[in-house]
Amino acid sequence: MCLVHGTGGSSAVWAPQLDGLADLAHIVAVDLPGHGRSDGSIPKRIEDAAALVADVLDALRIGRIVIGGHSMGGAIAQQFALTYPDRVDGLILVGTGARLRVLPRLLDLLARDNAKGVELLMSLAIGAKAPADLRTALHRSTADNPPGVVLGDLQACDAFDVMARISTVAAPTLAICGEEDQLTPPKYSRFLGEHIRGASVVVVAGAGHYVQVEKPDETTAAMREFLVGLRRRAISAPGG
Ligand code: COA
Repeated sequence: MCLVHGTGGSSAVWAPQLDGLADLAHIVAVDLPGHGRSDGSIPKRIEDAAALVADVLDALRIGRIVIGGHSMGGAIAQQFALTYPDRVDGLILVGTGARLRVLPRLLDLLARDNAKGVELLMSLAIGAKAPADLRTALHRSTADNPPGVVLGDLQACDAFDVMARISTVAAPTLAICGEEDQLTPPKYSRFLGEHIRGASVVVVAGAGHYVQVEKPDETTAAMREFLVGLRRRAISAPGG
């Protein structure tokens, strides 16, 4: 399975799943260029990021894979599924949507004052019930990005819109989101559930946009059930 982080994030945002799903899947959690431990310029467009993920998988000699992503990473996963349908065994979309318009005042603030912009972003992103230490850690890791990274990521999100095409995805799909997500509200996940054939939707109570770290057990359990279902399906398929 390949997992892609969101805006201003890194592979660290999947720590609970790397731990909790290690017995079930070999997981490649990428740091996109300009994020985490990867240097280079950040991808300007979601399409570019999806192509970079394909390059990473090529380098690892991985053909077909379950691909998942959070927020911007979920946009990249959708784009990957649309561009390389033959490479996708399953799609896991966490706190994301088929269109990711961004509040203009957030983009304006980030362009003028990165620190204040990150503050506004994180005040919307982290659920009200998240513990203080998680809130601090998420805020710090996002604020630590060089100025321009968070803004660039959100500009890529703002340009992303596959609402008219998402129904062509044929891969088994799971959409997960926090019930209190203000950035990609449950409505976005329900849209994915209604437009991708056979997709299931899990809305996690008491979580905001960072559902996979705010409610790690619930998110990991939903991913586990999905992965087990995929395995069963593969075994029962002709030739499986
Ligand atoms: N899935 C389902 N529905 C969606 C959607 C998605 N991915 N994206 C937008 N929509 C819906 C909206 O809810 C809206 O429905 P409504 O007319 O019934 O209210 C409609 O499509 C149009 O929305 P949108 O394209 O977003 O334009 P807008 O001008 O109405 O709103 C924002 C623009 C920025 C205010 C709005 O997108 C928003 O609040 N976004 C969330 C905050 C944010 O910045 N998120 C960051 C994402 S990374």
